[in-house]
Amino acid sequence: MGRLLSIFLPLIIYAGSPKGETIYITKGCYGCHGTKGEGIGDYPKLAGKPAKALIEKLHRLQRGIGETSKRNLMIPFAKDLSEAEIQAVSHYLSQINQNRSKEPEVADEYLGGFGS
Ligand code: HEC
Repeated sequence: MGRLLSIFLPLIIYAGSPKGETIYITKGCYGCHGTKGEGIGDYPKLAGKPAKALIEKLHRLQRGIGETSKRNLMIPFAKDLSEAEIQAVSHYLSQINQNRSKEPEVADEYLGGFGS
């Protein structure tokens, strides 16, 4: 029984955990950091950074500690995140590969759709 639990518990936890991408979009993070975490102007790029570093930054921001003069824009967003959300969104962002371009595939599908 203990063995079974050790197999299924992680699955249950995974299924019940918040989705990083959903958090990123619904909490409005993309408004400053870009839809793919690519960064906009003064707002830092997040995509592809190590999850550990992102988590650490979010923890610091939650405590009101930032690095730039714009930190006060970010602090309320960090404070609004639960620990589980911080973990999920950081892992999501760290896995975005900026070099993997999916755009041409999507565009091809689009054109195919229009043609028929
Ligand atoms: C109003 C604009 C704005 C929004 C919305 C916003 N951020 Fe930020 N974010 C910033 C700014 C400005 C900084 C730089 C903070 C500093 O000075 O340390 C930052 C920094 C960060 C950092 C640290 C990056 C680094 O490497 O230094 C992370 C991680 C982050 N934001 C995640 C998020 C997440 C997740 C959300 C959504 C819940 C979000 N941000 C929403 C403006 C924003």
